[in-house]
Amino acid sequence: MKIQNITCIGAGYVGGPTMSVIADRCPHIRVTVVDMNAERIAAWNSDHIPIFEPGLDAVVKRARGENLFFSTDIDAAIKSADCIFMSVNTPTKTEGEGAGRAADLKYIIACAEQIARSAQDHTIVVEKSTLPVRTAEKIKEILAKNSKQSFDVLSNPEFLAEGTAIKDLENPDRVLIGGENPEAIAALFEVYAQWVAKEKIITTNVWSAEMAKLAANAMLAQRVSSINSLSAFCEATEADIDEVAKVLGSDSRIGSKFLKAGIGFGGSCFKKDILNLVYLCEHHGLPEVAAYWEQVLVMNDWQKKRIAQLVIKKLGGQVKGKKIAVLGFAFKKDTNDTREAPAILVCETLLQAGAEVVVFDPKVSAQKVQADLSYLSTHQSHLKSANTVNDACVGVDAVIVLTEWDQFKMIDWASVATQTKKSAWIFDARNCTNHAAIRAAGLNLWVVGK
Ligand code: NAD
Ligand code: UDX
Repeated sequence: MKIQNITCIGAGYVGGPTMSVIADRCPHIRVTVVDMNAERIAAWNSDHIPIFEPGLDAVVKRARGENLFFSTDIDAAIKSADCIFMSVNTPTKTEGEGAGRAADLKYIIACAEQIARSAQDHTIVVEKSTLPVRTAEKIKEILAKNSKQSFDVLSNPEFLAEGTAIKDLENPDRVLIGGENPEAIAALFEVYAQWVAKEKIITTNVWSAEMAKLAANAMLAQRVSSINSLSAFCEATEADIDEVAKVLGSDSRIGSKFLKAGIGFGGSCFKKDILNLVYLCEHHGLPEVAAYWEQVLVMNDWQKKRIAQLVIKKLGGQVKGKKIAVLGFAFKKDTNDTREAPAILVCETLLQAGAEVVVFDPKVSAQKVQADLSYLSTHQSHLKSANTVNDACVGVDAVIVLTEWDQFKMIDWASVATQTKKSAWIFDARNCTNHAAIRAAGLNLWVVGK
């Protein structure tokens, strides 16, 4: 078994960057990325690729048209492939059994059915999406029922984080391949071994691979909730979260990464994957385990609401008619992704309390901000966007920093202070700005965990 023709179904935040790097590192493999979203595919084929990710542009430019292709012809791409990655979205179910918790597998099932209909030879099917444990069993059943061809199903979950996707893909901590058939595992191993050190490629059984991905996200999110819970404790006791995190991180058993207190985690993965884990634990009769992981989400929601309410409290208990600048709308820096961004909840709280909100984000468009808050139809006229930090801050009573974009470290606060109302409040919910400069400019300052 040798992989020469890869097709990836799903040209999103995972499929696009992952396949671009595979194509770039494996010039002998033809890689086709397909999606039912024609607009997204057109963007991948244009000069304005649909995802902002440092380094991605250059990788796409090198490989596109050589051995990397983006297409909407899903059947043709399935027919020509000897290996098919399924990198479609797996959102939380909104109806039926497990609604609000379980992962909705409708897109994965549709992919498996389409692969079964169109595959023309033996095909390795790879789960790239994050999936509930034992989904491979369901995929195998669909393939066997609807096709005469033979298939191997592997689990190869993706660990990239947005904003550092290219770095993570080019130099991963590990690559995980779960499977049954050693020949299929070896074929996929060979692809990654073109650029990843062999000792970093871990092979397991399928169920461990599916499980390990959910567990990794749950444990990462747990660290963020842990440090955020301590940030509130620091604020109550005059301890300093930076100092506490430094002490914690210098213990090699704890490690220093992922200990940055903030507004709470966002992004498309942590919440939905923990909800899925909670659902699976309950399903398997483990309510105590489910409750343990659910608390990670409870703490995250609490942190977001706590900070939004704190802004209102510091501004005198009401913000009706007050003007507030929100700096940063993406869920973290170096991405244009706003899925589950804490900024959505903060803006909602302020708008519902009667404030006028002006958003500035270096990569999120005004249209996207409006769309994300469109469910608040009655407050739309109070929501505006600005093109620069200074423009956002004209006449404001307060500024809230919600994403740790590098450019916010260098804000000229003396200049901002000439725009804001006198003695305006700066809320640094990411602990990422120049605090001395804010104080020197005569502005009031609140910092998370201080
Ligand atoms: P996404 O929503 O950005 O992209 C998914 C794409 O799949 C969409 O463009 C959609 O149109 C397409 N699609 C869905 N069903 C299809 C079908 N039947 N045929 C053709 N196209 C179809 O999602 P994403 O962020 O790339 O995530 C994909 C998976 O990877 C999810 O399971 C997610 O949990 C997992 N994951 C995401 C990240 C991340 O950082 N975003 C990291 C690791 C793992
Ligand atoms: C996450 C996982 O890290 C990645 O392995 C998985 O494949 C997809 O989900 P992502 O959500 O893209 O990646 O970004 P990540 O860097 O994990 O950040 C998630 C959220 O946690 C962000 O909102 C970030 O701001 C927040 N965070 C992270 C903190 O608040 N503090 C930290 O110390 C780290």
